[in-house]
Amino acid sequence: MLCAARQTRVHSTDIADWLRMEYLPDHNYRYKDVDYWDERYKTEQSFEWFGDFSKFQNILEQHVKKDDDILILGCGNSSMSSDMYHAGYLSITNIDYSSVCIDTMSARHLSKCPRMTWHQMDARKLSFPDASYDVVLEKGTLDAMLVEEKDPWRVSQDTACLIDKVLKELISFSSSVYNFTPTSSPMASLW
Ligand SMILES: C[S@@+](CC[C@H](N)C(=O)[O-])C[C@H]1O[C@@H](n2cnc3c(N)ncnc32)[C@H](O)[C@@H]1O
Repeated sequence: MLCAARQTRVHSTDIADWLRMEYLPDHNYRYKDVDYWDERYKTEQSFEWFGDFSKFQNILEQHVKKDDDILILGCGNSSMSSDMYHAGYLSITNIDYSSVCIDTMSARHLSKCPRMTWHQMDARKLSFPDASYDVVLEKGTLDAMLVEEKDPWRVSQDTACLIDKVLKELISFSSSVYNFTPTSSPMASLW
């Protein structure tokens, strides 16, 4: 029995490792390219970057009200938004620049989360009217956008301009912005 249990554990770890390896890009900088994500989402069903809803539930409940209008940037195929929906956050708009991701996720969640919406959109060119959202959330999206940076605390001029641009867009229609990437994002201290 012990042997069988051990073998099962090794087996499932191997599968998990294999699943992750399969989607590793040739170069890190590919994480900022939409064609990398489109290709990945053609086959990958779900992946949770940095942890799932349960890891962030506590902090969310302290800062986000159930009736807030929430925008999620770079939703990916994470279950974060549907888990939030089932926890009572009903007004959620999801965006991602991958059309493959948005098509899959909207079809997957349409019947169980009818008030949640999905839009293919670049976070650098948001096209919602001003003051549409109370809260903006992102988890891993800024990391993907800024993957070429060498030092998160001393970003390049280009990245500083990008951060400026995204913040200006967000601040124009958001009262609160929460970044769920604990250490890796240069934005963490600003949000
Ligand atoms: C590391 S994944 C994180 C996915 C998801 N938020 C999670 O926590 O599992 C980054 C996501 O951001 C999206 N993304 C990257 N750059 C983007 C941009 N400029 N505009 C919108 N989405 C973007 C990618 O398509 C991908 O789904």
